Amino acid sequence: MQLILMGPPGAGKGTQAAELVKKFGIPQISTGDMFRAAVKEGTELGKKAKACMDTGALVPDEVTVGIVKERLSKADCANGFILDGFPRTVDQADALEKILSDLNMKLDRVLNIHVPAEELIERAVGRRICKSCGATYHVKFNPSKAENVCDNCGGELYQRADDNAETMKNRLSVYEASTRPLIEYYKKAGKYTEIDGRQPISKVTADLEAALR
Ligand code: AP5
Ligand code: MG
Ligand code: ZN
Repeated sequence: MQLILMGPPGAGKGTQAAELVKKFGIPQISTGDMFRAAVKEGTELGKKAKACMDTGALVPDEVTVGIVKERLSKADCANGFILDGFPRTVDQADALEKILSDLNMKLDRVLNIHVPAEELIERAVGRRICKSCGATYHVKFNPSKAENVCDNCGGELYQRADDNAETMKNRLSVYEASTRPLIEYYKKAGKYTEIDGRQPISKVTADLEAALR
């Protein structure tokens, strides 16, 4: 199953991708997670990405497309994948078509998690992530049992550098200008399904699974 999980910043793409990975046993490919890993390792890619991520701008398409191409070529993607946060521009979507046709693959479905803008800042600012296993929490909507301690592994929770109200405003305007046009793009391709992301996490998961049946 070849899927794209779309949605504005903070809509719940990462949270839901983790559930779909458990259910379908296919990998999650998050360009944001890949960039954050590169920043942590201090690689050249990380240096390029950090400057963009800190302001909420997009990393240049040629950089992003390159890492996705490399990732999709790996053996674990042969039975499918969940793209999370890619494509984010029409040029990236065109590049993805080319990558997939070179790999003899095609997209099955594009699932868009819809959440209105006014809720997204609160979601991002309250997000906490486990340093060890990457599990995602929210101080109000999905709190860990003990403050700042991961339920899964006991790891320490941290806040992403771009999860502040100011950077979030920029991420949202970048989404409106560059990413929202992809809704029409995939509607035209006949692969688009919209899911109401304003429901409890488990209900969003149920709706996503129903859309894939
Ligand atoms: P990326 O890491 O992809 O960030 P994003 O798209 O802004 O999305 P988020 O990860 O912030 O949100 P999410 O939808 O995964 O939500 P989550 O599940 O965590 O990208 C970061 C940066 O990298 C970009 O700004 C850009 O610079 C660069 N980049 C990445 N991809 C790129 C690309 N393709 N091209 C160019 N540049 C790229 O949930 C959010 C919070 O809400 C959590 O706390 C969660 O617990 C909570 N929550 C989840 N679901 C619910 C619910 N149903 N109800 C209540 N709370 C909920
Ligand atoms: Mg995410
Ligand atoms: Zn953990």
